Amino acid sequence: MRKLLLTTVIAATAATGAFAQSASDTAKARRAYFTLVNYEMATLGGMAQGKIDYDADAASAAAKDLLALASYTNADLFAEGTSNEDLPGETRAKADIWADTAGLQEKSAAFYQAVVDLNDAAGNGLDALRPAVGKIGGTCKACHDDFRAKDF
Ligand code: HEC
Repeated sequence: MRKLLLTTVIAATAATGAFAQSASDTAKARRAYFTLVNYEMATLGGMAQGKIDYDADAASAAAKDLLALASYTNADLFAEGTSNEDLPGETRAKADIWADTAGLQEKSAAFYQAVVDLNDAAGNGLDALRPAVGKIGGTCKACHDDFRAKDF
């Protein structure tokens, strides 16, 4: 009986798909996603800036994690109805994201490409790491400038 009930719950969840998540849940997940992106970037940025000793294995591992995050299909994290106009105080995602999805995709693609390039460079010494990390930082900023509000 217990097993049957569980199956029913799973079936119901699958049927409603993304709509099982509230708009607030989506904003939370989106922010958590970028928290992870930031966490991996902090390791790489720390090495590039000389605040953390360069270590080829650690740099390669962070670069690989960043690639996993950049490859993650995050379209569901940008569901309609989850902008800072819909959810004041909960998110900084500007409504412009939904008015200009091509623009967001373009910024995402630039970020992805920079992360791919970083994965070639990360294990090859600090002089190779530095410019690759700088390039990624530029793609973070470019997207934030257009699509992330300064305040909640
Ligand atoms: C394609 C666009 C895009 C790219 C690329 C991007 N971000 Fe963001 N980032 C956003 C948006 C939009 C938000 C706002 C999310 C929200 O508040 O719902 C955000 C939020 C954040 C946050 C705040 C998370 C929170 O707790 O509210 C951090 C930190 C962050 N990004 C770091 C980064 C770093 C570091 C990079 C690059 C390595 C990066 N982002 C690349 C669009 C982007």
